[in-house]
Amino acid sequence: MVERRTVLQVSGAIAVGGILAACGGGSETGAAEASAVTGPAPDGQGVVIASLGDVPVGGGFVNEEVAVVVTQPNEGSIKAFTAVCPHQGCLVSEVVENEIICPCHGSRFSAVDGVVLQGPATEGLTSAIVTVQGDNVVLP
Ligand code: FES
Repeated sequence: MVERRTVLQVSGAIAVGGILAACGGGSETGAAEASAVTGPAPDGQGVVIASLGDVPVGGGFVNEEVAVVVTQPNEGSIKAFTAVCPHQGCLVSEVVENEIICPCHGSRFSAVDGVVLQGPATEGLTSAIVTVQGDNVVLP
């Protein structure tokens, strides 16, 4: 029984990764080319939501499974925000040149602090607290 659950969870993670990879291509500077698989942190504290390799400087990685976007506005500076757009609730899709983009109506948010750069959204993205453990970005 436990083994079956484990297999199903792994299958789900691969399916999500496949979807992200399918949606991630096309942008030159910030599209998420998903290689991260959401899973428990190595120390058992929190959940790995991205690997640093998925978060280019100026770009970012959208983890749809936990609805968090991880950015790296400057070398070594990792930020995270809710990926749920405050306008009408779509998930943001990508980060290009330090702008987090919502595909539904074109709102853009700062990859530095989540503030609105372009509407129709009137509120920014809420910060999420993450830690970096080795090459992993971890949501506590
Ligand atoms: Fe994001 Fe409308 S839901 S801009």
